Amino acid sequence: MLNQREHWGSRIGLILAVAGNAIGLGNFLRFPVQAADNGGGAFMIPYMISFILLGIPLVWVEWALGRYGGERGHGTAIAVFDLIWKKPFAKYLGILGVIIPLVVVVYYTYIESWTLLYSFFSLINKLPSTPVSDGLQDYLKPFENFLASLIGANSSSEVFLNPPWYTYLFFVITLLLNLYILHRGVSAGIEKVAKFAMPTIFIMAFLLLVRVFTLTSPEGRNLLDGLGFLWNPDFSALKDPKVWLAAAGQIFFTLSIGFGAILTYASYLKPKSDIALNGLASASVNEFAEVILGGSIAITASVIFFGIAATQQIASQGAFNLGFMALPAIFANIPYGEFFGFIWFLLLFFAGITSSIALMQPAIAFLEDELGFSRDKAVITLGIFLFISANIPIFLKGALDELDFWIGTFSLVIFALLETITFVWILGSKKAWEELNRYADIKVPKIFYYILTYISPAFLIVILLWWTFTDLPTKLVPNNINAWIARGFILLTVIIGVILVKIAWEKKNGRTSS
Ligand code: PHE
Repeated sequence: MLNQREHWGSRIGLILAVAGNAIGLGNFLRFPVQAADNGGGAFMIPYMISFILLGIPLVWVEWALGRYGGERGHGTAIAVFDLIWKKPFAKYLGILGVIIPLVVVVYYTYIESWTLLYSFFSLINKLPSTPVSDGLQDYLKPFENFLASLIGANSSSEVFLNPPWYTYLFFVITLLLNLYILHRGVSAGIEKVAKFAMPTIFIMAFLLLVRVFTLTSPEGRNLLDGLGFLWNPDFSALKDPKVWLAAAGQIFFTLSIGFGAILTYASYLKPKSDIALNGLASASVNEFAEVILGGSIAITASVIFFGIAATQQIASQGAFNLGFMALPAIFANIPYGEFFGFIWFLLLFFAGITSSIALMQPAIAFLEDELGFSRDKAVITLGIFLFISANIPIFLKGALDELDFWIGTFSLVIFALLETITFVWILGSKKAWEELNRYADIKVPKIFYYILTYISPAFLIVILLWWTFTDLPTKLVPNNINAWIARGFILLTVIIGVILVKIAWEKKNGRTSS
């Protein structure tokens, strides 16, 4: 029995929705920190190589798997792996394609809610104001304290965070907004929001860009110093595996590949839709938003204002420091700074929400397609799960980082490898190539046939092995109770997933055999 599945309304709406999926906190917060922390110009070469050898091919793999599933009434890797492998265990491997986005969104939504809170606080002029004074520390300290009090990290407890009520309130508002959009559905909810949010993001980014490009520092640094940091290539870093891992990791995160979320979006394509051009177009829009917009706002402003060394120092001290500390500290020292702060954080919020709904949709699709839930029942189920689980990163110190390492970094590579194997090896590279080119509006260069078949899987295996031997041993050591709670939570989610998949397939088999 095939359910009547939803579809995207228009091609432009589809591209904006997928671009909204990809363009997120990763573009504006994570990218600048990764780039600065890994040497600026030194980061960009492995980054671009990873984009071509991993990014584009994997984007196509996810679009192709998604369309393949959608044509058969399914929108998650669970069912798609089952269809392609025709082996009972394959659907269980596909669970990763629902669990990964589901666990990531638990903390992603929380960080997203900070951006809403910051934007509101900028508007009412309640962010700290720092005088143009002496050292970097004096600039940043008030913002460091502000963030610490917001997440409740300034209490003396070793184990717990103690955020104030308004932090929790903004989180609840953010989560409810997400659920509301999902309840409206694919076309009337997700697509409609993307059509409004995406152009708005570009306008806000443009305003910020103009402002940042006209900044100067008392020491006389200007735009050229800012841009030079990222755009003067440095080939020496090509020898450093750490920079390669960071670059590849950023490509995964920013393009939303290895999560299963692009797959789900692609499953809502109308019949006979192209994927080759759509995939390439949405990936390109994301890269524009990342390197041109994301790369020119936070990094450039910080290099102009504080200099390269200080910028690298800020970036190395925490993933949020450029966006949540350096930038508002700069805005506090320019005319109409609260306006620019408001725009900056609102931009982050818009980018965040179009991504968090994408992270939530695979779970909805699973409940609808495989368990026959109505949309509202699926949204409510998901909402209850998220309301409960979010307390882990909100109250347990260090849990967020733990979830981010295992699920938001490590599992992505495993799942991407599984997707690639499914597509090019199990389906077969010839059939995979035909799939990609079916209804295609562009001619995909033949070289990508070889990249897809050999280079991308090899690249993924090397990354995986590297991690297994370098990072994993240190990460596995039991460090504290919260890390174990986070791991226990992941395990529990996997167990629930396995049980639900078992139930769904038993129901289906019961139907077909009776
Ligand atoms: N690509 C998003 C970002 O850059 C994160 C994301 C991953 C969103 C997977 C949806 C699915 O922030």
